[in-house]
Amino acid sequence: MKISERAQSISLFFAMEFGKRAAQLSQQGHHIIKLSLGEPDFGAPPEVIEAGKNLMDGRPLPYTSALGLPELRQKISEFYQKTHGVYVDPARIIVTAGASAALLLLTAALVDAEDEVIVGDPSYPCNRQFLSSFGAKVKLVTTNAASKYQVTAQSVKDNWSDKTTGLMIATPSNPTGTSIPVAELKQICEWARQRQAWRIIDEIYLNLADHDEQGHAPQTVLAFDPEAIVINSFSKYFGMTGWRLGWCVVPESMVSIMENLAQNYFICPSTIAQHAALACFSDASLAVCEQRRNIFLERRQLVLEGLKRIGLFVPVEPNGAFYVYFDVSSTGLSSWEFCERVLQEAHVALTPGQDFGFCDANTHVRLSYAASAEELKQALQRLETFMQSLSA
Ligand SMILES: Cc1ncc(COP(=O)(O)O)c(C=O)c1O
Repeated sequence: MKISERAQSISLFFAMEFGKRAAQLSQQGHHIIKLSLGEPDFGAPPEVIEAGKNLMDGRPLPYTSALGLPELRQKISEFYQKTHGVYVDPARIIVTAGASAALLLLTAALVDAEDEVIVGDPSYPCNRQFLSSFGAKVKLVTTNAASKYQVTAQSVKDNWSDKTTGLMIATPSNPTGTSIPVAELKQICEWARQRQAWRIIDEIYLNLADHDEQGHAPQTVLAFDPEAIVINSFSKYFGMTGWRLGWCVVPESMVSIMENLAQNYFICPSTIAQHAALACFSDASLAVCEQRRNIFLERRQLVLEGLKRIGLFVPVEPNGAFYVYFDVSSTGLSSWEFCERVLQEAHVALTPGQDFGFCDANTHVRLSYAASAEELKQALQRLETFMQSLSA
């Protein structure tokens, strides 16, 4: 059987691979603390779970519109108004099977073979795979701790060529949990806009980012670049990873193109997940999500203090998501060896930097603090013992 070159060229998603190995060790009876996946431990808000149960009463759950339930698109629009003070026309909101499906549809809609697309290094690994599956040339832009591992207006300009047709940015980012300052993002979007290039801004962690001193949520890019393409999801802030539901906001001119692709690729996102997700936007559910955001903040402090105590250096502290990117070069191990040994010897699953690109990849490791405080404390204790065993 012939397997496509495209499929064979796709790299392994190491976070998932380490997750798989951790699951195997668990099956053998070991207690593994999984800090390798970006998966909130809370699950969906209670009202959503209740709504999901009520929907399982034998009623038919037919396909919805390929663009998503109109009521859900309306609720998402209201969420932008309420949380970010921005009006987003529900007609521009497309509900998808997770942000992953939005990424697939968008790359299918926007990318031709040989187009160059700017992507920061390190960044979410699947973006590179989506782009290269459609033949695009991924222009990885090296970042550093000084730029919070994010691209800057200058680095975007320096890496631009006459073949560049777009750029992809996640803010806050996976694997670092760091954000691009608004002024910098404005400049980047303006530069791309002036060159008729698209800009996909992945805001999947935006609602898990710190609020300012006045208690305001961080700005969405749509506040200053209404033609930017935005990705978001029910997976992270709403804790609904396995429900497979997300959305994107696209310029009006792209809606029918996306609709055509969505009809062909997916027919529609999960009907039951969409109906249940309506309950995400009640005052009670939003209060639960905000409470959880604060719990993540406490866990972040716990992890940062723990890593400091152990002597594992964090070059840039996160301001959102639930990731810490830390430096293991002091151990003399590569990040890959570190993760393998920590999994085998300390039974803690982490993700090596190689998943996210090349920049500092051999020396850095991602820890996801989307686990209970108890588990995090225990994981830090195990890491400390592991570090002591190395120096002994
Ligand atoms: C930056 C980023 N974008 C997109 C996704 C995909 O999320 P989902 O398909 O669960 O919505 C993830 C998942 O971890 C992510 O970290």
